[in-house]
Amino acid sequence: MPHLKTILVTGGAGYIGSHTVVSLQEAGYDVIALDNFANSVNGAEDESIALKRVEKITGKPVTFYKCDLLNIPELEEIFNKHKIDAVIHFAAMKAVGESMQLPLLYYKNNIIGMINLVEVMEKHDIYQLVFSSSCTVYGEPKKLPITENEQTGNVTNVYGRTKFFIEEMLKDLSRANSKWNIIALRYFNPVGCHSSGIIGEDPTKAFTNLMPYISQVAMGKKDTLTIFGNDYETPDGTGIRDYIHVMDLATGHVAALKKLVSVHLGIQFYNLGTGKGISVLELIKAFERVNNVKVPYMIEARREGDISSMYADASFAEKELSWKAEKTVDEMCADFWRWQTLNPNGYKTPYTNGHCP
Ligand code: WQD
Repeated sequence: MPHLKTILVTGGAGYIGSHTVVSLQEAGYDVIALDNFANSVNGAEDESIALKRVEKITGKPVTFYKCDLLNIPELEEIFNKHKIDAVIHFAAMKAVGESMQLPLLYYKNNIIGMINLVEVMEKHDIYQLVFSSSCTVYGEPKKLPITENEQTGNVTNVYGRTKFFIEEMLKDLSRANSKWNIIALRYFNPVGCHSSGIIGEDPTKAFTNLMPYISQVAMGKKDTLTIFGNDYETPDGTGIRDYIHVMDLATGHVAALKKLVSVHLGIQFYNLGTGKGISVLELIKAFERVNNVKVPYMIEARREGDISSMYADASFAEKELSWKAEKTVDEMCADFWRWQTLNPNGYKTPYTNGHCP
């Protein structure tokens, strides 16, 4: 089986990418990161600041390149320069709402970017791939918790459809060329930040996800939180999701690389979730309790495209990857708040060693 030492992380400066680089380095891998920096930070004096802060955590340098997957010569140059053993592919646009306004941009960036990447990989005889997929590919689940055997593809938003189409493309690729050894990880709802408070989810970027919104309201940067609907068929009427700490996601990627070394899979899909469903109101209450803050909210109509409930049956990943989400909702809330209060302006906040708790 292959020996994986040098890992290329596309989208390595992003939220999940940067946290995964920490876990990869801590597991002893050499990491090369590429990012077009379109989504990691804006306005900060140095776009690669997230990766520079990763080095504060691990003490190990991250080789990184500003590279857009739509620019094949740029991408080729990296593969010509380094002996890459495997690729973890995060780079993609991920705003659900924006994807509905700009479908072609999302199809071009996410799907053509993916095609360019796998073509360059094949050219360099590299067939070990971990793909960042999403529970969004399941659409509205028929039964819960959801397993990997559930049907996929019934997705209404363009972002989720790019993830679904890429999964189907990778299935075809592994059927056409048996050398491919691919794991697609279906994330549930990533939240939280590294416990150091040094890296996190940049609040200066446009966001729609719940946790950053809760935190911005708690900081007083936004007046109130809008709860999109409390008339769902759930115990308290608000939407239920499977929130998973981003560091648990990160260790899930390390576990996936170890799986690729141990067995030839062709292609395999794994749910990365906690298996627990938490409602919007429950997350708000946990955030207030853990951080001793108030999060005023108002109830509005449901958000278009939202589903009522989604949480994982993660037993297949736990068994096959010998991996399990360990961190609690309280840790997700505490870690996010630490990052947010230490970096009120995200990566534009000057770094001080006060970040270490
Ligand atoms: C969670 C809940 C909202 C904001 C995300 C990503 C998607 C995928 C899955 C990775 C819902 C409610 C939210 C707010 C609210 N992840 N909410 N007020 O929609 O589950 O999807 O995770 O691929 O890319 O978008 O996450 O955080 O937007 O919503 O009431 O201001 O919080 O209705 O019930 P979602 P979310």
